[in-house]
Amino acid sequence: MTNIAKISALASAPPDTSGVWDDLVQQDRVHRRVYTDDSIFAREMDNIFAATWVYLAHESEIPEPNDFKLSWIGLREVIVARDEDGVVHAFSNRCSHRGASVCREHHGNAADFTCPYHGWRFDNRGQLFGIPGKSAYGPKFKSRDMNLARPAQLGSYKGFVFATLNPDAPPLLQHLGNATRYLDAWIDHNGGPENLCLLGGCTSFPPGLQLEDGVGQRWRWLPCAVLAPVAAGDDQRSLRRRRHGLFRRRGPLQDEQ
Ligand code: FES
Repeated sequence: MTNIAKISALASAPPDTSGVWDDLVQQDRVHRRVYTDDSIFAREMDNIFAATWVYLAHESEIPEPNDFKLSWIGLREVIVARDEDGVVHAFSNRCSHRGASVCREHHGNAADFTCPYHGWRFDNRGQLFGIPGKSAYGPKFKSRDMNLARPAQLGSYKGFVFATLNPDAPPLLQHLGNATRYLDAWIDHNGGPENLCLLGGCTSFPPGLQLEDGVGQRWRWLPCAVLAPVAAGDDQRSLRRRRHGLFRRRGPLQDEQ
């Protein structure tokens, strides 16, 4: 059977046939079913996005106290926020009451978030601190159990923030393994972690939001971030201007001066 015939046969195989999916990826081609099969997508969410560390943001995206941005762990929307003490937190953008989104902006600066449904208020650590008409919820209601859900683990490597939903996932450093060598080399080449700033060019589609092209193929999850060295004297406005020259340094690095 030729590769093409084999792949065609696989395309009509039962969706949960374990092991068969490996054959969908050939040395010289990938069957489109990998991108369109709902069961493969569900397994991808369970076995990758819910099981291991997922990159959320670069700390330079939330440089000031109370800055926040939205990110995703698989299908779960997450708020990444810096509190007033400068500590980075991550918590679910899903109200602990009835599940409404508590934040509708992609990024911004806010000390707290108010759910639009019944007005519960959460601080930028994800803790519930305000409930309108609290007495109406009854005597057994315990607000301390209703903070926004947090990922099981949150970690940062030289400004790159990751989280995982899996409490048994290995520590971040262990997960990154030899990848840190390449990250370190690239970061050092650009003057160190403090010298890096995300300028823009960041495009991400939540995995649940799949784009469909003309042949019925759905494209998933396209994270792409552009980091570049910060030149001396850069402020947010000049950084925005530099989006047009993403990889060009406007000023010398410190050790080049
Ligand atoms: S759903 Fe958020 S306050 Fe009710």
